Amino acid sequence: MSTPVKKVPIHLQSAQNRLLIKNGKIVNEDEIVDNDVYVEDGVIKQLGRNLIIPGGTRVIDARGKYVMPGGIDPHTHFELEFMGTKSVDDFYQGTKAAVAGGTTMIIDFAIPKQGESLLEAYDRYRATADEKVCCDYGLHIGVTSWNSKVKEEMAILARDHGINSFKVFMAYKDTFMLRDPELIEVFAACKDIGAVAQVHAENGDLIAENTKRLLAAGVTGPEGHEMSRPEEVEAEAVNRACVIANQVNCPLYVVHVMSRSAAEEVEAARRRGVIVWGETLAAALGTDGTQYAHSCWRHAAGHVLSPPLRPDPDTPYNLMIKLATGGLQVTGSDNCTFNSEQKALGKNDFSKIPNGVNGVEDRMSVVWEKGVQAGIMNPTRFVAVTSTNAAKIFNLYPRKGVIAVGSDADIVIWDPNRKRTISAETHVQAVDFNIFEGLEVHGVPEYVIVNGRVCVDECDVKVVHGYGRFVETPVYPPYVYDLISEREQKPRGVARTEVELKRYAEEDAA
Ligand code: URP
Ligand code: ZN
Ligand code: ZN
Ligand code: ZN
Repeated sequence: MSTPVKKVPIHLQSAQNRLLIKNGKIVNEDEIVDNDVYVEDGVIKQLGRNLIIPGGTRVIDARGKYVMPGGIDPHTHFELEFMGTKSVDDFYQGTKAAVAGGTTMIIDFAIPKQGESLLEAYDRYRATADEKVCCDYGLHIGVTSWNSKVKEEMAILARDHGINSFKVFMAYKDTFMLRDPELIEVFAACKDIGAVAQVHAENGDLIAENTKRLLAAGVTGPEGHEMSRPEEVEAEAVNRACVIANQVNCPLYVVHVMSRSAAEEVEAARRRGVIVWGETLAAALGTDGTQYAHSCWRHAAGHVLSPPLRPDPDTPYNLMIKLATGGLQVTGSDNCTFNSEQKALGKNDFSKIPNGVNGVEDRMSVVWEKGVQAGIMNPTRFVAVTSTNAAKIFNLYPRKGVIAVGSDADIVIWDPNRKRTISAETHVQAVDFNIFEGLEVHGVPEYVIVNGRVCVDECDVKVVHGYGRFVETPVYPPYVYDLISEREQKPRGVARTEVELKRYAEEDAA
């Protein structure tokens, strides 16, 4: 790890404060346009051809490359204390890996420890992350218990601390799990303060029962993890969360949708008019649950996360189709990494294997390879599902998630013709394992620009410890709450026909 450096105001980074990206194909969620991009002091100042720019500006030639909004990974867990240990990618190494892969903003989860309040958890995360992050970051807050103080603190976080999203867990019984009456209250509280509710959707009671039964039957290996929480255990919880959110008119974001049947529940709810978005993971798109049958224990345990990867090998393809056609909207990584000796905590009992995998570094490449390179998704949809949709849902748009005048200069210059092979030997992340080991991917981030600074330069990673900022996510994201208020304004009366009205008028007259 590099030594911490003091934050250098952007205007003092003279060699780097002006940048012209020429001849590239600018990709936004809605169109691809041949244009040049001029960046000054961390902001996109001009778009067009034959731009008049000051002398001394650095010029990057992006001919044959895509120039896209930097990725936004809305789901990471850096240095999370979880299942008796702590995830190994910290806010420095984790954000460095993010940037190396073309991601320029992450949103992590401040999850309170036992007995810690929401505000204390928030303060702890800020104190840890602010001085380490190499790119901008935001926070979601985990709600793992329910009482009037929690409700009060949610309102304070939303009002004063730039928080607009709260995650509840329907799984992890006896630690994080909340029950339906609590979900109703948390979702209603989110609605009251203009926030987005997020849910980890798995039926925690069923998992606990299945775990007992499997262990008693002598199934102790990593395969038991998936067997204890099969698809329908995920799909049932997704449906239940959608119904509860809909009943209290709260917008819902389902994190880590890992199975075809769960994705179908999100899609079906959206068709019924439920205001819900579904996030799937690089892990679910890039590998599958057949890994749990691997003869090497470490290999199988290395793939343990919740909800698990699915044994149906068509799952990655099916989820990619859902992303491409609008049934799912966002990709995250859920990066939560544990080394071999940490995974070994569950050597004799799969329920003790720390849950989590890598993805923050490879998410963009995996989505490109399995989506765009495979011919399932076009580059505009790639931008939507890796950046723009998250920016809109969490109210960062148009500051983030778009190449536009006035937006932050968070830009990735993507070479679709270059290839690389993913490996733990070469990755930036701290963890000693990579679930995408050996996967050859097309599409390499040749330059990554973070707030106007070239942090990947011809594939050379040059991040600065603590360069990133905490970015507030204001409540009432218009993209979300316009839909809620539209629903609320709908007339509730009964529409009667002309004929009926006429009949009553005649009766009155008679
Ligand atoms: O296995 C996982 N997903 N670990 C991180 C915690 C969570 O549930 O997101
Ligand atoms: Zn989760
Ligand atoms: Zn092995
Ligand atoms: Zn997670």
